[in-house]
Amino acid sequence: MNILVVKDYEEMSEKAAHIVVGKILSKPDSVLGLATGSTPIGLYRKLMDFYNCGLVSFAETITFNLDEYIGLSADCSQSYAMFMKNNLFNHIDIKRENCNIPSGTINDRSKECQYYEKKIKAHGGIDLQILGIGRNGHIGFNEPDVKFEAQTHIVKLDEQTIFDNARFFERSEDVPKSAISMGIKTIMQSRKIVLLASGKEKADAVFGMVKGQITPKLPASVLQLHPNVTLIVDEDAYSKINNNK
Ligand code: PGA
Repeated sequence: MNILVVKDYEEMSEKAAHIVVGKILSKPDSVLGLATGSTPIGLYRKLMDFYNCGLVSFAETITFNLDEYIGLSADCSQSYAMFMKNNLFNHIDIKRENCNIPSGTINDRSKECQYYEKKIKAHGGIDLQILGIGRNGHIGFNEPDVKFEAQTHIVKLDEQTIFDNARFFERSEDVPKSAISMGIKTIMQSRKIVLLASGKEKADAVFGMVKGQITPKLPASVLQLHPNVTLIVDEDAYSKINNNK
């Protein structure tokens, strides 16, 4: 794992944007795997800045998001589909038909999971996957004890995740209890992975991911087995590793 320790959230976002823009410049029709949550918002802002300066175009870029809440339609304000529109897609020249997010409202969920996997493969797989990490070590919505062989599947959200994500909802009871998520196998098949981590509250998960055992109890630890992972981590999120040197 290639580890880049940076000062703060701002620098983390900038470094990640450089990697994404470099990828798009070398392969404009790149397939990007995208994440939601607080962590990638700074990266998305930097991508908009690059786009607004005329330095990069996303006109040929394809994206696949990691996950979506079950029960939230794409036009619901807390859906990840809406998050992506508000935080990136509405502000760049990406074609809407090239932006893929699993449906949280489709009746036949297992068909949707298979369809999503097939679509990723039909586009030649993911060139660059962006990840955040949950305090419980989840990546996407792959919660502790996930099967490493899982492809896109329906997951029951962990209590910790529901608690952590309640800040995006009016009432904590409104947080959906399940989601559709790319699996660990889907993520591991990406050619390159960039994981972003910022803030003290991520220090335990980052420590486990980098220094701990490879175990489904901490899903991100599987990334130790991927040949092309870059972790961009700020000093706060790296603090437990630093303190245990
Ligand atoms: P956060 O979530 O970016 O909102 O901290 C990260 C994650 O759950 O992957």
